Amino acid sequence: MKKQRILQADEHYTEVDAYLRDQGVSCLLLVCNPWISRLRIGKYLDSLTQRLGIRVVPFSDFCPNPQVESVSKGIELLQGKHCDGIAVIGGGSAIDVAKCIRLYGRQNPAGLDLLQPAPIEELPFLAVPTTAGTGSEATRYAVVYAAGEKQSITSEQCIPDAVLLDASVLKTLPEYQRHATMMDAFCHAVEAFRSLNATQKSEAYARQALTRILESMDSYLRNEDQGNTQMLHAANLAGKAINITQTTAGHAMCYKLTSLYGIAHGHAAALCVRQLWPFMLANPERCIDPRGEAYLHDVFVRLAETMKCPIRRNRRQSYLARLLIGWRYQLPKP
Ligand SMILES: [Fe+2]
Repeated sequence: MKKQRILQADEHYTEVDAYLRDQGVSCLLLVCNPWISRLRIGKYLDSLTQRLGIRVVPFSDFCPNPQVESVSKGIELLQGKHCDGIAVIGGGSAIDVAKCIRLYGRQNPAGLDLLQPAPIEELPFLAVPTTAGTGSEATRYAVVYAAGEKQSITSEQCIPDAVLLDASVLKTLPEYQRHATMMDAFCHAVEAFRSLNATQKSEAYARQALTRILESMDSYLRNEDQGNTQMLHAANLAGKAINITQTTAGHAMCYKLTSLYGIAHGHAAALCVRQLWPFMLANPERCIDPRGEAYLHDVFVRLAETMKCPIRRNRRQSYLARLLIGWRYQLPKP
């Protein structure tokens, strides 16, 4: 797995300037929603041409659950404008489109073959996530739709080589989304713990993610810069964990709650995880995990230690800890 560079955001985005200079970018394809011009990062990107001589080519022709046609249009622009770098600012859909543009960047955009990746491996790829939840910027997975069918794509070449964790993009996040996306990151980390694909490395990422979530959630929910930055870090770490393990039962079950009832993804995942884990704890004799009941018991113990379950130093920590024993965490109404 390649190493991802984490850039910190100061007022003038000096680390982004340095990254773009290091990579020798002269023309940047910017995958984003049009509203990013209202954000501080949008104004920074507007200044790139004047300050560093870097042309910026915006691309916003995509929608939620992006279609393969959007990827084709992005590749057409990338090739036609001779872009030598990609940046994406957005949530899961924008990041999925940008990943696919890079992965299929050498193909003829008129007829993309999703089974034949043709990545532009040397193309610098910077992601700026606008929620602290999906961790998509850290994973090798992308989803696009072709002729109405969901296409799941997996490639190391999907992973951005740099990520900017910019607390200012979370400032205007609606409260419900703020909670739901945090719970998405939380569920990624919890599910990674007991995945069949779990490794020492994935567990280390999951532990770090959970620790940061517990430590920063008060500040994050108060919409403070420090909490927002820490939660972006936590979501990135949880993304790195599921990049190794993939998600497990909680996520597998939650998609119907979103498609049938419009419940936000992270909220739906939390609703499932809080039912699943108490069930597993209460019914060890029904364990069909090939690693055995004793192994899973150890996993539960390590997870409880990470969650500081016996300590419950403050109320918010116990909110999360109680997810494991069936406490009903109440998110704000959508
Ligand atoms: Fe998720």
